Amino acid sequence: MESEGRRHKVKDIALAPEGLRKMEWAESRMPVMRALREQYSRTRPLAGMRIAGCLHVTKETAILIRTLVAAGAEVSWSGCNPLSTQDDVAAALAAEGVSMFAWRGLSVDEFYWCIERTIEIDPTLSLDDGADLIFTLHNRHPDHCARMNGGTEETTTGVHRLRAMAAAGALRYPVIAVNDAETKWDFDNVYGTGQSSIDGILRSTNVLLAGKVFVVAGYGHCGRGVAMRARGLGARVLVTEIDPIPALKATLDGFQVMRMDEAAAQGDVFITATGMKDVIVRRHFESMKDGAIVCNTGHYDCEINIADLEAAAASTREIRPNNDEYVMRSGRKVFLLARGRLVNLAGAEGHPSEVMDMSFANQFLSMVRLAREGRSLATTVHDIPVSQDQEIAALKLASEGATLDVLTPAQIAYRDDFAAGT
Ligand code: ADE
Repeated sequence: MESEGRRHKVKDIALAPEGLRKMEWAESRMPVMRALREQYSRTRPLAGMRIAGCLHVTKETAILIRTLVAAGAEVSWSGCNPLSTQDDVAAALAAEGVSMFAWRGLSVDEFYWCIERTIEIDPTLSLDDGADLIFTLHNRHPDHCARMNGGTEETTTGVHRLRAMAAAGALRYPVIAVNDAETKWDFDNVYGTGQSSIDGILRSTNVLLAGKVFVVAGYGHCGRGVAMRARGLGARVLVTEIDPIPALKATLDGFQVMRMDEAAAQGDVFITATGMKDVIVRRHFESMKDGAIVCNTGHYDCEINIADLEAAAASTREIRPNNDEYVMRSGRKVFLLARGRLVNLAGAEGHPSEVMDMSFANQFLSMVRLAREGRSLATTVHDIPVSQDQEIAALKLASEGATLDVLTPAQIAYRDDFAAGT
């Protein structure tokens, strides 16, 4: 473990060259971030801003951090999940002079220690994925909140909690809900989570998905993405839900919807994507088939009740990296991936660079907005402006070589003519 004053604590600074090669790869697939860096390194709208970030330390995040620094910000960073930090990337960023406190496999106490180190920068902006940094600022440094321009939040779970906090009058500075941008959730949550979760399952197991019964708990954007990709690989997908609307969508998308109590005995592979605790509990483990594989892709590790699994098991061992075998008292085996943490980040590399390009463009532009107007924004949770979504979509489309039709003046008049009918 490497420490140098309060500047960084990473696993091994010697891993930096490997991290730099990964970042080069990511950057080559993030054209929107490259365009933003080119533009904003000239105007430097983040000069004078100090950003504390708490978000998975991946090769894509590294490109976000570089863009924030190029726009003039001072940055201090920690990971937002004990198992998601890419140690080589953390080393490369530390070697570039970023104040970095992150390593894979840290304990919960160390996790909060890292967040506290990032707050020593005396932040004016917070950038969160899961809201642990903003909660720490509110709970442990309430006086500091008055000095904040604002913050951003990357996830569905975090935005949900921050909206609850705002409704209760407990939020102390404005927050932008990056998650709710269309160029975020419609792509990152669906295609990013879909592909990277399957990637995590395959890297941890290398099982054949064709012909398997694949149970997806939760049919929000993330669950839908995973279900689509599992079907694409030939699995028979079952969905569990608590809300009739997503359940109906799942049904019309061709998936069978049933309760977890029923699905538990049928599934070969289970993945939770609900944002809720105790989705898979002891009675489910006890009715699972021999060889069942269980994992989670929701932000927190409470969706699968691991204490229940441990209580139901006679023995446990690691059978492969990110894959723990639990032998139940019945003799049947259940395999838990990535200790119930985000399988796409703990078992693979997270979402591909191409989707993070749009999510992080939203993060970046929201930071610029907060630097400019944060002090005059109401202390609540704000959506990103439609114009920002459109700007990012246009930049992404241009990089994909797609071109759009343009309405003629006659078409615009037709669209806006409320007198016209049949
Ligand atoms: N969340 C999901 N995938 C990610 C990635 N590649 N980088 C940062 N955060 C992520």
